[in-house]
Amino acid sequence: VRGIIISREDTPNTMRAYGMVVEGEPEKFSFVMIGNRLGMITEVMRRNELYAMLPSLARVDVDALEEHLRASEWHQTVVEISILGRVEKEGGRVRFARRASPPYPGEPFVPAPNDVVERSLTKDRDLLLGEGVGGFQVYMPLEAFRKHVAVLAMSGAGKSNLVKNMLLQLHTLPLRPGVVVLDMHGEYGALEAAVGGRGRVEVVDLAEVKIGFSQLTPGDLRLLLPNISDPRLEAYKKALREAKEKGITTLEGFRDALESRAVGPQKGGGMLATMLREVDALLDMGVVGEESYPTFEEWDLSTTTLIFDASSLLGLSEVLHFKASYILKTLFAKRREGRIPPTVVFVEEAHNLFSERGPARVVGERVAREGRKYGLSLVLITQRPSHISQTVLSQCNTHILMRIMNPNDQQKVRESVEGASQSVLNSLPVLETGEGILVGEAVNFPIFFRSPKVDLPNQNLSYKELLEEFYRKRGAVERATPSAEDALEGL
Ligand SMILES: Nc1ncnc2c1ncn2[C@@H]1O[C@H](COP(=O)(O)OP(=O)(O)OP(=O)(O)O)[C@@H](O)[C@H]1O
Ligand SMILES: [Mg+2]
Repeated sequence: VRGIIISREDTPNTMRAYGMVVEGEPEKFSFVMIGNRLGMITEVMRRNELYAMLPSLARVDVDALEEHLRASEWHQTVVEISILGRVEKEGGRVRFARRASPPYPGEPFVPAPNDVVERSLTKDRDLLLGEGVGGFQVYMPLEAFRKHVAVLAMSGAGKSNLVKNMLLQLHTLPLRPGVVVLDMHGEYGALEAAVGGRGRVEVVDLAEVKIGFSQLTPGDLRLLLPNISDPRLEAYKKALREAKEKGITTLEGFRDALESRAVGPQKGGGMLATMLREVDALLDMGVVGEESYPTFEEWDLSTTTLIFDASSLLGLSEVLHFKASYILKTLFAKRREGRIPPTVVFVEEAHNLFSERGPARVVGERVAREGRKYGLSLVLITQRPSHISQTVLSQCNTHILMRIMNPNDQQKVRESVEGASQSVLNSLPVLETGEGILVGEAVNFPIFFRSPKVDLPNQNLSYKELLEEFYRKRGAVERATPSAEDALEGL
């Protein structure tokens, strides 16, 4: 598009200008240059002065207007341009500065070259998120992981697909961080086949994750047994200490010692009975082992992407929260000791784990607040931004926003995403699947992108494909099972 800046309301100013389009069809979220200023088209409007002059459209004979006055020749297209900053070219380099002088009315605007947009957005082209309007590439710099990242969008907007794309790229970076995924629905395991021989993708069933008995603290018990009373907690504290002194190394052993009154309350009675019931419940949960697993010494995080598949724990809220907390705590400790590389933890369904009331929130908030000091970053992925702990969300400095329709979630985005301007917020409900807006400290201005679809084996099936797959599998089973007649014939 080409056009000229016009004078309208209090514009042009340093932030905003309106332009009359002279040539071409403008697209929302495309970029223009006004002199050396970089601008983004944030809205496209049609005007027609002839219609503006008519007092009542109800009485207008549109055909007659066209015939006698050629009304359509009065059509105009006006764009709203958000002025993002100033671009200076030094040699082959592009330097972007946030401040720009206001253009004058009458100044021309022209499409911005793709390389200028790409290079103004960020210095580092690390993770390719997708393509912007006009075909330039939208990269997220690794620098975003110095703090935390949130991917916020309604269900089906394309969050997981985008994350798969990020994971595949992170996995093959020459200088890569550790990557750990808390995969609530078991949808990332298919990455294993997709990465080929480059490094490893290790899928660990979250059910296998256990804390060693010797590391079990009364605080852990509070997390696992939400109804525990203070006197009982005291009794456990004493009992655990005694058990460790006696060299007991398993929860089973602890239970036996408790029952035979070798540890814990010496008198029997109600408390002991309750404790035994609680320890039985703990045994059923399968959260305590003889040794802790994992210790993160099992893998080389500089080459291995670790996926914790939580799908087998669906509905076991306390267990899930406990094990996720254990993973985060352990990673935090390992980072502090410098035993693993700076690591990014992707948390799917983060509104579950880090809800305002969820037990894992405590660890989540700690990592959110202090993680960056130690190079442990979170990527929170959620379809219910309004349900996630404000403390956790407010520590995110980079946001990827995709389609959001729910007014409460939009409100939460408005409150907690710095840099989400009105025009960004307005566009959230109309984004298509896979489309997103990258906002935040890691980039110089909010930018729209379309992410590519990642094709992993057996993933992203449409509903029809899901049905087909079922009937194909069943067909195969039926063919393999002889019918009654075939069976009789064989006799
Ligand atoms: N960029 C894309 N291009 C085309 N199709 C896409 C794209 N991203 C996602 N899809 C499709 O849209 C559907 C939903 O995508 P996805 O599972 O990533 O959404 P989600 O936001 O993670 O949803 P949920 O919150 O329910 O987990 C999938 O069938 C996926 O294949
Ligand atoms: Mg998803």
